[in-house]
Formats: sequence, C-alpha cells, structure tokens
Amino acid sequence: MLKNTLKKAAHAGAAEILRFFNADFKISNKEGVNNLVTEADHASEKAIIEVIRNEFPGHQLLGEESGKLVQDSNYKWIIDPIDGTVNFAHGIPLNCVSIAIEKEGEIIFGAVYNPHLNEFFFAEKGNGATLNEKPIAVSTESQVLKSCLVTGFPYTYINLPDGPLEIFEKFIRKGIPVRRLGSAAIDLCWVACGRFDGFYEHKLEPWDSAAGYLIVEEAGGRVTDHANNKFSVYQHKVLATNGKIHDELSAIITNKKSL
Ligand code: IPD
Ligand code: CA
Ligand code: CA
Repeated sequence: MLKNTLKKAAHAGAAEILRFFNADFKISNKEGVNNLVTEADHASEKAIIEVIRNEFPGHQLLGEESGKLVQDSNYKWIIDPIDGTVNFAHGIPLNCVSIAIEKEGEIIFGAVYNPHLNEFFFAEKGNGATLNEKPIAVSTESQVLKSCLVTGFPYTYINLPDGPLEIFEKFIRKGIPVRRLGSAAIDLCWVACGRFDGFYEHKLEPWDSAAGYLIVEEAGGRVTDHANNKFSVYQHKVLATNGKIHDELSAIITNKKSL
C-alpha cells in the first residue's frame, strides 16, 4: 500500500515537471542569488501531497516548499518536488522528484524519478534497489585515483577553509573526473547504479538526500557523513560510495590523507 502510494505520488509530481518543462512558468528567488523556486516546484509538491493526503491523511509531511506538517504518526514523507530546480529552469533534463518514507526515524522507502530520461529509481529497506523495476548494484572500483566522482556546491557558497572548492581542486589536479550534475538525488542514484563510484556534498537537506541514501545502501553502497560517521538525513555533509573507496575518500575529503 505504502509502496503503491509512493509510486503514484512520484508520478503525479513528475507529470507537473513535464507539464511545465520548457514552457512558461514563474520563477522566484529563495535565499541566495540563484536559489530558485518555480511555479512547477509548487505544482509538483501540491500534486504529490494530494496523493499522500488522500491515502494517508494522518501521516507527517516534510516538503521542501511547504515545510513540516507534524501529526501524531510514526510515518513521515520527505519530499523534494523538483531536485535540480536550476537545471529545470534552464531546460536541462537532469531533474527529478525525490520522495522518502521515514518510519520511527528510519528511512524505509525511497523513490527518485527523472521523467525526462524515464528513469525510476526505487528502494525498500532490506529489499534491494531497482531502476525501472530491474535490480541495480554499485560499481566495483576500489581506488579513488581510478574513480569517477560527482559532487555539488551549495547555493550560498560559504567560504570555509578546506571547503567544497578546495576539495574539488585536489581531485581535479590529480586528473580524477569529478562531475557536477546539479541534482543531489540523481547523483546518489547514479552512484547506486554504478555510473559513479562516489559522491560527496557539504550542505544537503533531508529532502535532497533521504530517498537517494536508501537507494545507494540497498544497491550495496555505503552512506555516511564526511568523517565516516553513521548517516542521518538531518545532517548536511553526505558521503556516498560503492563501499570499496569509502574509507579512502572519507580520509581525503577530511584532510587525513593526501592524494
Ligand atoms: C539542490 C540540488 C543540487 C545541490 C544543492 C541542492 P534543489 O536542490 O540537489 O544538486 O547541489 O545543494 O539544494 O534546490 O534543486 O532542490
Ligand atoms: Ca533538492
Ligand atoms: Ca527542490
């Protein structure tokens, strides 16, 4: 039942993404110059919430655009109606709906749907991860030097010493490919299906990481914070890998090891 509603909600959000994609829509700014929100973000979130409220009216909701609805329930739906909004606003077909279901503090389902590529990633705790219903697995690369990585940068760049740009530079200077797709949920799913060996980012929110986190773990990968501590979707620094490069990548990005 939960699973069907989750899939239905992801499709409802994606239908709004497609309806507005490359068409006219209103854009406004959130905090930071290029931190956008569009009419499509609101329409997608509304469509997703409508599906959930219809079938599980008592569940808690945490949506990027509408905030928290706290109710007396063990279940919480964590919703990013468009992950990759800047891509969306520029007509770049790398954006998606990301929805996770948390039960008593644990993520038990995750769905990430990029309707432009028709790629539906899904995971259920303990039951593996799939892409369009077919099982997926992380890559087998065991050395950071031979890896293909992906990262993202916060909208409001905080000039931390040893922050995102310094770490990025370390990899680039060694000739390690580090991509920047512009959607953390897609980045995580592309680690899960073996396209990337690892992903790290400094300032994610629960709606960016919750579904992708479970999809990576269920595909056999590992997700922690940067310092290799147990992951929580409510902390910001995310490291997700195929497992094999995890300790090495964590040591490099926390400056414990040089490349
Ligand atoms: C953003 C994307 C991006 C990441 C940002 C997120 P949004 O989400 O996931 O890849 O670098 O940190 O905020 O704003 O497109 O939903
Ligand atoms: Ca997001
Ligand atoms: Ca978003």
